[in-house]
Amino acid sequence: MKTVICPGSFDPVTMGHLDIIRRSAKMFDKVLVVVMTNYHKRNTYVFSADERVDLLKRCTRDMENVEVEQYDGLLAEYARQKNAVAVVKGLRAVSDFEYEFQMALANKKLYEGAETIFLAAGAEHMYLSSSLVKQVAGFGGDISHFVPECLLERINERLCRTARS
Ligand code: PNS
Repeated sequence: MKTVICPGSFDPVTMGHLDIIRRSAKMFDKVLVVVMTNYHKRNTYVFSADERVDLLKRCTRDMENVEVEQYDGLLAEYARQKNAVAVVKGLRAVSDFEYEFQMALANKKLYEGAETIFLAAGAEHMYLSSSLVKQVAGFGGDISHFVPECLLERINERLCRTARS
């Protein structure tokens, strides 16, 4: 049984994230989508960890081999606990690579079994990020192409409320 981990902040989940999760679910027996804390973003999250987990659960409920969890610790430690064969990360551009490569090497140093697999982002998602979603929605723009349809109302409502406060 090959288990992989799709980690991230998911603040909020985008169509780009969902594409990586879906493709991972086709390749491996089990995918653990895990909401974690990015040290550099920890004071800027708009959605609580519980909200991010809930959004992910809603948009992955049609994927039988996908589970969503939250973990507030090191990714390498989580990978060890779950006996995962790899961490799967999406790469959008060369600019993503330097940071992701550093993380992959550090995780491997912390836990020898923590392999990282990079999936090229789908061409239609190359430009997409959670911060772009927050920015567009904050100015009242249309984010319907950026987030899963079933979450649109909820994400919009939350981001508009945050922008007003
Ligand atoms: O979606 P993001 O913000 O790019 O995801 C980054 C994340 C949360 C996967 C990364 O920051 C992470 O692994 N955080 C958990 C703590 C950790 O293990 N940090 C890396 C140390 S080498």
